[in-house]
Amino acid sequence: MVESVPEPDENRTVLQLCQDYGSRPENLVEILHAVQARDGYLSDDSLRDIAACLNLTRAEVHGVVSFYHDFRRAPSGKTVVKICLAEACQAVGCDALKEHAMQALSTGVGTTSSDGAVSLEPVYCLGNCALGPAVMVNGDLHGRVTPEKLDSLVSGADS
Ligand code: FES
Repeated sequence: MVESVPEPDENRTVLQLCQDYGSRPENLVEILHAVQARDGYLSDDSLRDIAACLNLTRAEVHGVVSFYHDFRRAPSGKTVVKICLAEACQAVGCDALKEHAMQALSTGVGTTSSDGAVSLEPVYCLGNCALGPAVMVNGDLHGRVTPEKLDSLVSGADS
């Protein structure tokens, strides 16, 4: 367990970030978060350096990265829209909202629009189940999101 989590620091190297966590394999998830906070995503080079620093194989590191939805393997769009696709939100229409979002944002779920403007990401519960469909736009949580409200939130995030 890490006693204190350092603030993201773009000047620290991957090796230094690993050392912040004692270069211990059990801190892999925290190290991945720290590197992603620094770069916005996890590059092949970063994963290679983390594996070397922790004396893990690249496959072991990739396995952890692919297990967690929060880790990105490519830079995100300027606006990040997370749409909840879990059961409570399904019961109140998140599938239709997802279809609208894909069309309105010109991107698929789990991808970024070709102009790099928007990333649409699936999440499985935002802790806002009573107010579904739930959406998070650039870290801000919204409930009872209609297609019109989603359009408004995204255009507001653009400005
Ligand atoms: S199921 Fe969507 S916020 Fe919980």
